[in-house]
Amino acid sequence: MTNTLLILPGDGIGPEVMAEVRKIIDWFGAKRGITFEVSEDLVGGAAYDKHGTPLTDATMAKAQEVDAVLLGAVGGPKYDKLDFSVKPERGLLRLRKEMDLYANLRPAQCFDALADFSSLKRDVVAGLDIMIVRELTSGVYFGEPRGIIKEGNERVGINTQRYTESEIARVARSAFELAKRRGNKVCSMEKANVMESGVLWRDVVQEIHDAEYPEVELSHMYADAGAMQLTRAPKQFDVIVTDNLFGDLLSDLAAMLTGSLGMLPSASLGAPMANGRPKALYEPVHGSAPDIAGQGKANPIACILSFAMALRYSFDQGDEAARLEAAVEKVLADGLRTADLMGPEGGKPVSTQGMGDAIVAALDAGL
Ligand code: IPM
Ligand code: MG
Repeated sequence: MTNTLLILPGDGIGPEVMAEVRKIIDWFGAKRGITFEVSEDLVGGAAYDKHGTPLTDATMAKAQEVDAVLLGAVGGPKYDKLDFSVKPERGLLRLRKEMDLYANLRPAQCFDALADFSSLKRDVVAGLDIMIVRELTSGVYFGEPRGIIKEGNERVGINTQRYTESEIARVARSAFELAKRRGNKVCSMEKANVMESGVLWRDVVQEIHDAEYPEVELSHMYADAGAMQLTRAPKQFDVIVTDNLFGDLLSDLAAMLTGSLGMLPSASLGAPMANGRPKALYEPVHGSAPDIAGQGKANPIACILSFAMALRYSFDQGDEAARLEAAVEKVLADGLRTADLMGPEGGKPVSTQGMGDAIVAALDAGL
């Protein structure tokens, strides 16, 4: 089976971190015989500048055909004033929605070499390994009605939180399946104390558990309490499953526990395609960081680890994914640090390119 990849570097630091991922992809082709048919295209502001839309129909069609899409980042201050319908973020949201990538996997893992880097104490975060499963194609991000309307002489902003049973059930199944291969624990988060959609969320997750996954330990938490527990004692969690908006917030929070947003990958998965592989998009959790774009300061690790997730979840190469993750761990243990990882304890400063090269060297050394 050929392995096809569509690379969408996007905006800001997207292109420079993706250039480092290219080195890794080439390495796996040359040294491990895992080859990819790679195509590249525009998304976000870059696509808007060229085509007047953050994602063309042609790019959308290509994304539907490949085994996996790898995305850098979208957005930037230059596009702040644009209408919502053509904002860079819409390109990403269209990919998620039309590919129906309902399960967004956001692991938050604390590398030992970076444990002192977290804003929390070392013993609270050292060894942390949690997985946030965020529902990605529904909820308040997409619910109708939405808009800014006029009511009397004032404007009213409207968004709608909406979840169907089947939308909740399928993401719950993803979380339980993942938990079975990890610590066998799922904590579901919503606001069932104030939202009907939260009541339904809690009920459906419990029903799926009782009917299909009784062997997995399930708990429920209000999302605000969940945020508090994530900062108080994050290691109590294994898999967290939550909706689109709470997942957006909680995954940024969890990411920061690990020291830097520059470390966190993500996978967005949908239903299996004809070849058995899931529809999939991989992207770093960090954004386009326009303030440091083009200066070689960005940390490429989140994007490189996103490719590791692609190896694991799209191409069934779990061992090779672990090989890449070990190479990343090695360069961090060796003290190599991009600017975002430069703490009081110092380290060896490296550029974006230097970090990519070091990871390739660590891969070589590991053979
Ligand atoms: C994320 C981002 C996106 C989101 C933006 C860029 C639309 O914050 O992936 O977490 O809100 O989902
Ligand atoms: Mg976010």
